[in-house]
Amino acid sequence: MNSLNRSYALLYRMDRNEWLKAKIDQLNQTGLQRSLRTVMSAPTGRIVLDGHEVISLGSNNYIGLSVNPKVIKAAAEAIQEFGVGASGSRLMTGNCQLYAKLEAKIATVKNTEAALVFSSGYSANISTIPALTGEGDLILSDALNHASIIDGCRLSNATKQIYRHCDVIHLEERLAQSAKFRRRLIVTDGVFGMDGDIAPLPNICNLADAYDAMVMVDDAHGFGVLGKNGGGTVEHFGLEGRGIIQMGTLSKAIGGLGGYVADSHVLIEFLINHARGFMFSTGLPPATLAAAYAAIDVMQTTPELRHRLLSNARWLRTRLIEAGFKLLPGETQIIPIILGDEKMASRFAEALLARGVYAPAIRPPTVPEGTSRLRISVMASHTPEDLEEAIAAFVAVRSGLPFNSH
Ligand SMILES: Cc1ncc(COP(=O)(O)O)c(C=O)c1O
Repeated sequence: MNSLNRSYALLYRMDRNEWLKAKIDQLNQTGLQRSLRTVMSAPTGRIVLDGHEVISLGSNNYIGLSVNPKVIKAAAEAIQEFGVGASGSRLMTGNCQLYAKLEAKIATVKNTEAALVFSSGYSANISTIPALTGEGDLILSDALNHASIIDGCRLSNATKQIYRHCDVIHLEERLAQSAKFRRRLIVTDGVFGMDGDIAPLPNICNLADAYDAMVMVDDAHGFGVLGKNGGGTVEHFGLEGRGIIQMGTLSKAIGGLGGYVADSHVLIEFLINHARGFMFSTGLPPATLAAAYAAIDVMQTTPELRHRLLSNARWLRTRLIEAGFKLLPGETQIIPIILGDEKMASRFAEALLARGVYAPAIRPPTVPEGTSRLRISVMASHTPEDLEEAIAAFVAVRSGLPFNSH
Protein backbone atom coordinates (compact mmCIF):
# COMPACT_ATOMS: atom_id res chain seq x y z
CA MET A 1 0.00 0.00 0.00
CA ASN A 2 1.53 3.39 -0.95
CA SER A 3 1.56 6.30 1.52
CA LEU A 4 -1.41 8.11 -0.12
CA ASN A 5 -3.57 4.98 0.16
CA ARG A 6 -2.41 4.53 3.74
CA SER A 7 -3.52 8.10 4.58
CA TYR A 8 -6.93 7.50 3.00
CA ALA A 9 -7.29 4.26 4.96
CA LEU A 10 -6.39 6.10 8.17
CA LEU A 11 -8.86 8.90 7.46
CA TYR A 12 -11.56 6.39 6.63
CA ARG A 13 -10.93 4.53 9.88
CA MET A 14 -11.00 7.75 11.96
CA ASP A 15 -14.21 8.76 10.30
CA ARG A 16 -15.76 5.33 10.84
CA ASN A 17 -14.69 5.19 14.49
CA GLU A 18 -16.03 8.71 15.16
CA TRP A 19 -19.35 7.73 13.71
CA LEU A 20 -19.46 4.55 15.80
CA LYS A 21 -18.43 6.46 18.94
CA ALA A 22 -21.21 9.00 18.36
CA LYS A 23 -23.71 6.12 18.13
CA ILE A 24 -22.44 4.63 21.39
CA ASP A 25 -22.57 8.03 23.13
CA GLN A 26 -26.17 8.37 22.00
CA LEU A 27 -27.01 5.05 23.66
CA ASN A 28 -25.20 6.14 26.80
CA GLN A 29 -27.21 9.37 27.05
CA THR A 30 -30.51 7.47 26.81
CA GLY A 31 -29.51 4.81 29.35
CA LEU A 32 -29.41 2.11 26.67
CA GLN A 33 -25.72 1.29 26.45
CA ARG A 34 -24.83 -2.33 27.08
CA SER A 35 -21.53 -3.57 28.45
CA LEU A 36 -20.10 -6.91 29.49
CA ARG A 37 -19.57 -8.03 33.06
CA THR A 38 -17.21 -10.85 33.90
CA VAL A 39 -18.50 -13.95 35.69
CA MET A 40 -15.63 -15.52 37.62
CA SER A 41 -17.39 -18.59 39.02
CA ALA A 42 -19.80 -21.36 38.04
CA PRO A 43 -23.42 -20.24 37.41
CA THR A 44 -24.98 -21.13 40.76
CA GLY A 45 -27.28 -19.12 43.05
CA ARG A 46 -24.31 -17.02 44.20
CA ILE A 47 -21.70 -16.02 41.66
CA VAL A 48 -18.52 -13.96 41.56
CA LEU A 49 -19.22 -11.04 39.23
CA ASP A 50 -16.39 -8.64 38.39
CA GLY A 51 -14.57 -9.91 41.48
CA HIS A 52 -17.49 -9.59 43.97
CA GLU A 53 -19.73 -12.34 45.30
CA VAL A 54 -23.39 -11.60 44.56
CA ILE A 55 -26.73 -13.40 44.69
CA SER A 56 -27.55 -14.19 41.08
CA LEU A 57 -31.11 -13.43 40.01
CA GLY A 58 -30.20 -13.35 36.34
CA SER A 59 -29.41 -16.92 35.40
CA ASN A 60 -31.27 -19.22 33.03
CA ASN A 61 -29.56 -22.22 34.63
CA TYR A 62 -32.91 -22.62 36.36
CA ILE A 63 -32.51 -26.09 37.85
CA GLY A 64 -28.74 -26.07 38.24
CA LEU A 65 -27.91 -28.60 35.50
CA SER A 66 -24.87 -26.60 34.29
CA VAL A 67 -23.07 -27.65 37.44
CA ASN A 68 -24.66 -31.05 38.07
CA PRO A 69 -21.92 -33.66 38.76
CA LYS A 70 -23.51 -36.28 36.44
CA VAL A 71 -23.68 -33.76 33.62
CA ILE A 72 -20.08 -32.63 34.14
CA LYS A 73 -18.90 -36.26 34.20
CA ALA A 74 -20.71 -37.04 30.94
CA ALA A 75 -19.14 -34.00 29.26
CA ALA A 76 -15.64 -34.88 30.53
CA GLU A 77 -15.95 -38.46 29.27
CA ALA A 78 -17.12 -37.28 25.85
CA ILE A 79 -14.10 -34.97 25.58
CA GLN A 80 -11.79 -37.87 26.37
CA GLU A 81 -13.43 -40.07 23.75
CA PHE A 82 -14.23 -37.62 20.94
CA GLY A 83 -12.07 -34.51 21.49
CA VAL A 84 -13.35 -30.94 21.75
CA GLY A 85 -14.70 -30.07 18.30
CA ALA A 86 -17.10 -31.44 15.70
CA SER A 87 -14.77 -30.80 12.75
CA GLY A 88 -17.50 -29.86 10.29
CA SER A 89 -21.18 -29.28 9.65
CA ARG A 90 -23.47 -32.20 10.47
CA LEU A 91 -24.04 -32.92 6.79
CA MET A 92 -20.32 -33.02 6.01
CA THR A 93 -18.24 -34.55 8.81
CA GLY A 94 -19.69 -33.29 12.07
CA ASN A 95 -22.63 -35.62 12.76
CA CYS A 96 -21.22 -37.17 15.93
CA GLN A 97 -22.94 -40.40 17.02
CA LEU A 98 -24.08 -38.64 20.22
CA TYR A 99 -26.60 -36.59 18.19
CA ALA A 100 -28.82 -39.61 17.53
CA LYS A 101 -29.06 -40.44 21.24
CA LEU A 102 -29.76 -36.84 22.19
CA GLU A 103 -32.40 -36.33 19.49
CA ALA A 104 -34.19 -39.55 20.45
CA LYS A 105 -34.20 -38.35 24.07
CA ILE A 106 -35.64 -34.94 23.15
CA ALA A 107 -38.32 -36.61 21.01
CA THR A 108 -39.28 -38.86 23.95
CA VAL A 109 -39.64 -35.97 26.40
CA LYS A 110 -41.53 -33.92 23.82
CA ASN A 111 -43.73 -36.84 22.82
CA THR A 112 -42.92 -36.45 19.12
CA GLU A 113 -41.66 -38.83 16.44
CA ALA A 114 -38.33 -37.10 16.00
CA ALA A 115 -36.17 -34.10 16.86
CA LEU A 116 -33.31 -32.17 15.27
CA VAL A 117 -30.57 -30.39 17.21
CA PHE A 118 -29.16 -27.05 16.03
CA SER A 119 -26.14 -25.11 17.31
CA SER A 120 -28.34 -22.78 19.36
CA GLY A 121 -31.94 -21.80 19.92
CA TYR A 122 -31.26 -18.66 17.91
CA SER A 123 -30.07 -20.76 15.00
CA ALA A 124 -33.10 -23.08 15.27
CA ASN A 125 -35.48 -20.14 14.96
CA ILE A 126 -33.71 -18.25 12.19
CA SER A 127 -33.40 -21.49 10.23
CA THR A 128 -36.78 -23.11 10.79
CA ILE A 129 -39.14 -20.17 10.23
CA PRO A 130 -37.77 -19.24 6.77
CA ALA A 131 -37.61 -22.95 5.84
CA LEU A 132 -41.31 -23.44 6.62
CA THR A 133 -42.60 -20.24 5.05
CA GLY A 134 -42.01 -18.23 1.90
CA GLU A 135 -43.60 -15.93 -0.62
CA GLY A 136 -47.38 -16.20 -0.58
CA ASP A 137 -47.48 -17.36 3.07
CA LEU A 138 -48.44 -15.43 6.20
CA ILE A 139 -46.62 -15.47 9.54
CA LEU A 140 -48.59 -14.33 12.59
CA SER A 141 -46.21 -13.49 15.42
CA ASP A 142 -46.93 -12.45 19.05
CA ALA A 143 -45.84 -8.86 19.75
CA LEU A 144 -43.47 -9.95 22.52
CA ASN A 145 -41.79 -12.86 20.76
CA HIS A 146 -38.06 -13.36 21.23
CA ALA A 147 -35.60 -11.60 18.90
CA SER A 148 -34.63 -14.89 17.26
CA ILE A 149 -38.25 -15.42 16.16
CA ILE A 150 -38.37 -11.84 14.88
CA ASP A 151 -35.14 -12.41 12.95
CA GLY A 152 -36.45 -15.73 11.61
CA CYS A 153 -39.54 -13.90 10.34
CA ARG A 154 -37.33 -11.21 8.75
CA LEU A 155 -35.39 -13.89 6.88
CA SER A 156 -38.57 -15.36 5.44
CA ASN A 157 -40.15 -14.01 2.26
CA ALA A 158 -43.59 -14.51 3.80
CA THR A 159 -45.86 -11.61 4.78
CA LYS A 160 -45.51 -10.87 8.51
CA GLN A 161 -48.23 -9.64 10.84
CA ILE A 162 -47.92 -9.01 14.56
CA TYR A 163 -50.81 -9.78 16.90
CA ARG A 164 -51.13 -8.12 20.30
CA HIS A 165 -49.42 -9.99 23.11
CA CYS A 166 -51.37 -13.19 23.96
CA ASP A 167 -54.48 -11.60 22.42
CA VAL A 168 -56.36 -14.44 20.72
CA ILE A 169 -59.16 -12.11 19.63
CA HIS A 170 -56.68 -10.02 17.70
CA LEU A 171 -55.10 -13.20 16.33
CA GLU A 172 -58.48 -14.41 15.12
CA GLU A 173 -59.17 -11.06 13.44
CA ARG A 174 -55.95 -11.46 11.52
CA LEU A 175 -56.67 -15.11 10.66
CA ALA A 176 -60.15 -14.23 9.45
CA GLN A 177 -58.56 -12.03 6.78
CA SER A 178 -55.90 -14.51 5.74
CA ALA A 179 -57.75 -16.58 3.12
CA LYS A 180 -55.66 -15.18 0.29
CA PHE A 181 -52.45 -16.64 1.69
CA ARG A 182 -51.19 -20.08 0.66
CA ARG A 183 -50.17 -21.18 4.19
CA ARG A 184 -50.38 -19.60 7.64
CA LEU A 185 -47.88 -20.00 10.50
CA ILE A 186 -48.67 -18.80 14.02
CA VAL A 187 -45.49 -18.48 16.06
CA THR A 188 -45.23 -17.73 19.77
CA ASP A 189 -42.94 -18.06 22.77
CA GLY A 190 -44.29 -20.72 25.15
CA VAL A 191 -43.11 -18.91 28.29
CA PHE A 192 -42.25 -15.31 27.42
CA GLY A 193 -38.62 -14.75 28.35
CA MET A 194 -38.95 -11.16 29.59
CA ASP A 195 -42.52 -11.27 30.96
CA GLY A 196 -42.69 -14.76 32.40
CA ASP A 197 -46.29 -15.36 31.28
CA ILE A 198 -47.47 -18.39 29.33
CA ALA A 199 -48.93 -18.23 25.81
CA PRO A 200 -52.63 -19.20 25.52
CA LEU A 201 -51.72 -22.30 23.52
CA PRO A 202 -55.07 -24.14 23.77
CA ASN A 203 -56.89 -21.17 22.21
CA ILE A 204 -54.16 -20.71 19.63
CA CYS A 205 -54.44 -24.39 18.66
CA ASN A 206 -58.21 -24.13 18.28
CA LEU A 207 -57.81 -21.10 16.02
CA ALA A 208 -55.14 -22.90 14.02
CA ASP A 209 -57.53 -25.80 13.44
CA ALA A 210 -60.34 -23.46 12.44
CA TYR A 211 -58.22 -21.46 9.99
CA ASP A 212 -55.91 -24.23 8.80
CA ALA A 213 -52.72 -22.71 10.23
CA MET A 214 -49.47 -24.25 11.47
CA VAL A 215 -48.43 -23.47 15.06
CA MET A 216 -44.83 -23.21 16.22
CA VAL A 217 -43.97 -22.69 19.88
CA ASP A 218 -40.58 -21.54 21.17
CA ASP A 219 -40.28 -23.36 24.47
CA ALA A 220 -36.90 -21.96 25.51
CA HIS A 221 -38.13 -21.12 29.02
CA GLY A 222 -40.72 -23.89 29.42
CA PHE A 223 -38.65 -26.99 28.67
CA GLY A 224 -37.43 -28.66 31.87
CA VAL A 225 -39.72 -26.43 33.95
CA LEU A 226 -43.37 -26.88 32.98
CA GLY A 227 -45.39 -30.06 32.53
CA LYS A 228 -45.56 -33.19 34.65
CA ASN A 229 -42.41 -34.57 33.00
CA GLY A 230 -40.70 -31.26 32.33
CA GLY A 231 -41.73 -31.51 28.66
CA GLY A 232 -42.65 -27.83 28.57
CA THR A 233 -45.59 -25.69 27.57
CA VAL A 234 -47.26 -28.23 25.27
CA GLU A 235 -47.23 -30.85 28.02
CA HIS A 236 -48.36 -28.23 30.57
CA PHE A 237 -51.55 -27.75 28.54
CA GLY A 238 -51.91 -31.43 27.52
CA LEU A 239 -51.66 -30.49 23.83
CA GLU A 240 -49.48 -33.40 22.70
CA GLY A 241 -50.69 -34.78 19.38
CA ARG A 242 -52.14 -31.43 18.24
CA GLY A 243 -49.39 -30.93 15.65
CA ILE A 244 -47.60 -28.03 17.37
CA ILE A 245 -44.03 -27.62 16.06
CA GLN A 246 -41.97 -27.50 19.25
CA MET A 247 -38.77 -25.51 19.12
CA GLY A 248 -36.58 -24.93 22.15
CA THR A 249 -33.12 -24.57 23.56
CA LEU A 250 -30.73 -26.68 25.61
CA SER A 251 -29.13 -23.55 27.07
CA LYS A 252 -31.60 -22.66 29.82
CA ALA A 253 -33.07 -25.30 32.18
CA ILE A 254 -30.98 -27.98 30.44
CA GLY A 255 -27.92 -25.94 31.37
CA GLY A 256 -25.75 -26.31 28.25
CA LEU A 257 -25.94 -25.16 24.66
CA GLY A 258 -27.92 -26.00 21.52
CA GLY A 259 -31.38 -25.59 20.04
CA TYR A 260 -33.85 -28.14 18.75
CA VAL A 261 -37.05 -28.68 16.82
CA ALA A 262 -39.24 -31.65 17.79
CA ASP A 263 -41.97 -32.88 15.44
CA SER A 264 -42.70 -35.58 12.84
CA HIS A 265 -40.07 -37.57 10.92
CA VAL A 266 -41.05 -35.81 7.74
CA LEU A 267 -40.71 -32.29 9.18
CA ILE A 268 -37.27 -33.17 10.55
CA GLU A 269 -36.17 -34.61 7.20
CA PHE A 270 -37.44 -31.44 5.52
CA LEU A 271 -35.39 -29.26 7.91
CA ILE A 272 -32.24 -31.32 7.34
CA ASN A 273 -32.61 -30.33 3.68
CA HIS A 274 -33.88 -26.75 4.03
CA ALA A 275 -32.80 -25.20 7.35
CA ARG A 276 -29.77 -23.14 6.41
CA GLY A 277 -28.41 -22.65 9.94
CA PHE A 278 -28.40 -26.43 10.23
CA MET A 279 -26.88 -27.08 6.81
CA PHE A 280 -24.14 -24.46 6.80
CA SER A 281 -22.81 -24.38 10.36
CA THR A 282 -20.43 -26.60 12.33
CA GLY A 283 -21.91 -29.25 14.61
CA LEU A 284 -21.85 -28.85 18.38
CA PRO A 285 -18.87 -30.15 20.37
CA PRO A 286 -19.37 -33.79 21.49
CA ALA A 287 -19.12 -32.77 25.16
CA THR A 288 -22.07 -30.42 24.66
CA LEU A 289 -24.17 -33.25 23.23
CA ALA A 290 -23.24 -35.66 26.03
CA ALA A 291 -23.93 -32.97 28.64
CA ALA A 292 -27.36 -32.22 27.19
CA TYR A 293 -28.30 -35.92 27.13
CA ALA A 294 -27.21 -36.37 30.76
CA ALA A 295 -28.93 -33.14 31.81
CA ILE A 296 -32.26 -34.17 30.27
CA ASP A 297 -31.87 -37.51 32.04
CA VAL A 298 -31.34 -35.77 35.40
CA MET A 299 -34.27 -33.46 34.65
CA GLN A 300 -36.53 -36.48 33.97
CA THR A 301 -35.46 -38.44 37.04
CA THR A 302 -35.31 -35.52 39.50
CA PRO A 303 -38.69 -33.76 39.26
CA GLU A 304 -38.07 -32.22 42.68
CA LEU A 305 -35.65 -29.78 41.01
CA ARG A 306 -38.41 -28.11 38.98
CA HIS A 307 -40.83 -28.37 41.91
CA ARG A 308 -38.34 -26.47 44.07
CA LEU A 309 -37.77 -23.94 41.29
CA LEU A 310 -41.47 -23.17 41.00
CA SER A 311 -41.98 -23.07 44.75
CA ASN A 312 -39.04 -20.64 45.08
CA ALA A 313 -40.65 -18.52 42.34
CA ARG A 314 -44.04 -18.53 44.13
CA TRP A 315 -42.41 -17.59 47.42
CA LEU A 316 -40.40 -14.73 45.88
CA ARG A 317 -43.42 -13.39 43.99
CA THR A 318 -45.50 -13.37 47.18
CA ARG A 319 -42.79 -11.65 49.20
CA LEU A 320 -42.15 -8.99 46.54
CA ILE A 321 -45.87 -8.22 46.33
CA GLU A 322 -46.07 -8.04 50.15
CA ALA A 323 -43.13 -5.62 50.04
CA GLY A 324 -45.14 -3.37 47.73
CA PHE A 325 -43.65 -4.19 44.33
CA LYS A 326 -46.10 -4.44 41.47
CA LEU A 327 -45.34 -7.49 39.37
CA LEU A 328 -46.76 -8.71 36.10
CA PRO A 329 -49.05 -11.65 36.92
CA GLY A 330 -47.50 -15.05 36.34
CA GLU A 331 -46.58 -18.42 37.75
CA THR A 332 -43.16 -19.13 36.27
CA GLN A 333 -39.55 -18.65 37.35
CA ILE A 334 -39.29 -15.36 35.42
CA ILE A 335 -40.43 -12.41 37.53
CA PRO A 336 -40.29 -8.95 35.94
CA ILE A 337 -40.55 -5.70 37.89
CA ILE A 338 -41.55 -3.07 35.33
CA LEU A 339 -39.89 0.30 35.98
CA GLY A 340 -40.72 1.99 32.67
CA ASP A 341 -37.81 4.35 32.32
CA GLU A 342 -34.53 2.95 30.93
CA LYS A 343 -32.31 5.05 33.18
CA MET A 344 -34.30 4.10 36.28
CA ALA A 345 -33.98 0.41 35.42
CA SER A 346 -30.20 0.78 35.04
CA ARG A 347 -29.88 2.77 38.28
CA PHE A 348 -31.97 0.26 40.19
CA ALA A 349 -29.87 -2.64 38.91
CA GLU A 350 -26.61 -0.84 39.74
CA ALA A 351 -27.79 -0.02 43.26
CA LEU A 352 -28.85 -3.66 43.78
CA LEU A 353 -25.44 -4.82 42.62
CA ALA A 354 -23.77 -2.52 45.12
CA ARG A 355 -25.80 -4.40 47.76
CA GLY A 356 -24.70 -7.79 46.46
CA VAL A 357 -27.69 -8.73 44.29
CA TYR A 358 -27.53 -9.17 40.53
CA ALA A 359 -30.86 -8.68 38.72
CA PRO A 360 -30.32 -7.46 35.15
CA ALA A 361 -31.95 -4.30 33.82
CA ILE A 362 -33.75 -5.16 30.58
CA ARG A 363 -34.23 -2.26 28.18
CA PRO A 364 -35.20 -1.69 24.53
CA PRO A 365 -34.75 -3.25 22.05
CA THR A 366 -35.10 -6.39 24.20
CA VAL A 367 -38.44 -5.06 25.51
CA PRO A 368 -40.76 -2.35 24.10
CA GLU A 369 -40.03 1.33 24.89
CA GLY A 370 -41.37 2.47 28.23
CA THR A 371 -41.37 -1.05 29.73
CA SER A 372 -37.78 -1.27 30.97
CA ARG A 373 -37.58 -3.62 33.87
CA LEU A 374 -35.61 -5.76 36.22
CA ARG A 375 -35.87 -9.36 35.07
CA ILE A 376 -35.57 -11.61 38.07
CA SER A 377 -35.04 -15.29 37.39
CA VAL A 378 -35.13 -17.70 40.28
CA MET A 379 -33.13 -20.90 40.58
CA ALA A 380 -33.98 -24.18 42.30
CA SER A 381 -30.75 -23.87 44.27
CA HIS A 382 -31.59 -20.51 45.87
CA THR A 383 -31.89 -20.93 49.62
CA PRO A 384 -34.46 -19.08 51.76
CA GLU A 385 -31.51 -17.00 53.07
CA ASP A 386 -30.51 -16.00 49.52
CA LEU A 387 -34.04 -14.91 48.73
CA GLU A 388 -34.54 -13.08 52.06
CA GLU A 389 -31.29 -11.20 51.49
CA ALA A 390 -32.39 -10.31 47.95
CA ILE A 391 -35.75 -8.95 49.16
CA ALA A 392 -34.02 -6.82 51.79
CA ALA A 393 -31.79 -5.35 49.05
CA PHE A 394 -34.79 -4.59 46.80
CA VAL A 395 -36.55 -2.79 49.63
CA ALA A 396 -33.42 -0.84 50.63
CA VAL A 397 -32.74 0.27 47.05
CA ARG A 398 -36.35 1.33 46.52
CA SER A 399 -36.23 3.55 49.60
CA GLY A 400 -33.19 5.36 48.17
CA LEU A 401 -34.52 5.98 44.65
CA PRO A 402 -37.46 8.02 43.28
CA PHE A 403 -38.98 4.69 42.36
CA ASN A 404 -42.41 4.16 40.85
CA SER A 405 -43.25 0.57 39.95
CA HIS A 406 -46.05 0.25 37.37
C1 LIG B 1 -37.55 -17.37 23.88
C2 LIG B 1 -36.14 -17.59 23.41
N1 LIG B 1 -35.95 -18.19 22.24
C3 LIG B 1 -34.72 -18.43 21.76
C4 LIG B 1 -33.60 -18.06 22.47
C5 LIG B 1 -32.25 -18.31 21.89
O1 LIG B 1 -31.73 -19.48 22.45
P1 LIG B 1 -30.15 -19.70 22.53
O2 LIG B 1 -29.65 -18.89 23.66
O3 LIG B 1 -30.01 -21.17 22.72
O4 LIG B 1 -29.59 -19.24 21.22
C6 LIG B 1 -33.75 -17.44 23.71
C7 LIG B 1 -32.55 -17.03 24.47
O5 LIG B 1 -32.49 -16.06 25.14
C8 LIG B 1 -35.05 -17.20 24.19
O6 LIG B 1 -35.26 -16.59 25.36
